[in-house]
Amino acid sequence: MHSINDYCWCGSKRSYKECHMEFDQRLKALKKRNIIVPSRKLIKNARQIQGIKKCGIVNSGLLDMVGKNIREGISTEWLNQLAYKYTISKGARPGVLNFEGYPKSICTSINNVVCHGIPSKKDILKSGDIINVDVTTELSGYYTDASRMYRIGEISKEAEKLVRVTRECLYKGIEVVKPWKSFIGDIGYEVQKHARANGFTVAREFGGHGVGLAVHEDPFVFHFGRKRTGMILVPGMVFTIEPILNSGGNRVCIDEKDKWTVRTKDGSLSAQWEHTLLVTEDGVEIISM
Ligand code: MF3
Ligand code: CO
Ligand code: CO
Repeated sequence: MHSINDYCWCGSKRSYKECHMEFDQRLKALKKRNIIVPSRKLIKNARQIQGIKKCGIVNSGLLDMVGKNIREGISTEWLNQLAYKYTISKGARPGVLNFEGYPKSICTSINNVVCHGIPSKKDILKSGDIINVDVTTELSGYYTDASRMYRIGEISKEAEKLVRVTRECLYKGIEVVKPWKSFIGDIGYEVQKHARANGFTVAREFGGHGVGLAVHEDPFVFHFGRKRTGMILVPGMVFTIEPILNSGGNRVCIDEKDKWTVRTKDGSLSAQWEHTLLVTEDGVEIISM
């Protein structure tokens, strides 16, 4: 049992009383009302947040660099090598390299690829392609995760709409993040509603996730669901929102050979956008801006 004058559990080196005591009391009251609350390891302290933000700058710089270099005629493996070099040059490390056996530094998902596309010399970008580049960076033990869509040359109206609406879904999700007020289910509800209103489906097997001290942490962030369900959102939580929308059905299949590449079952187009977010005392901050 610790006294209120002891150091806070969060590692801030401040007294519990001056740090997370009131926070804990609020969580306890919510728990009593059967509301799902985050465990302590999901609450980041000021030092950790600073580390994650520093990592976020490298991660965003990497996606900017990808944007400057991506074009018709290059291979996704060349992009992968660029990304690796950029990351190392910043004193960081690609978070997904060797993660659960993943063989590359980034994920490159073209057209009907839903996610986890593996860079390859054989995948040459051509005009009309849409591609998601997903990057996770590790810097000094902290992690940030984000992805963007890139348009290659002239793309179809349908592809353009899918890319736009998917990004809108991400921002609709971000908009509902309110400390002590909103829930994981509120994010999914908004994403699904906007996707459906535009005639698109949402992939259900993949979701956002806690992040910061590892590539994937709790909670799982559904991109569909009901309002006021799931974990409540409180200051100090760091997680991603990363909706995947398909122009056709939401069924997907995994490549039998590489065991990673996920494709739409019906061959329809798929798009995804991702940000890492921090819940603050009065709102939400995009760490991967
Ligand atoms: N960056 C991905 C995400 O958003 C993680 C990919 S894991 C990998 O969660 F192993 F496939 F790279
Ligand atoms: Co992610
Ligand atoms: Co990602």
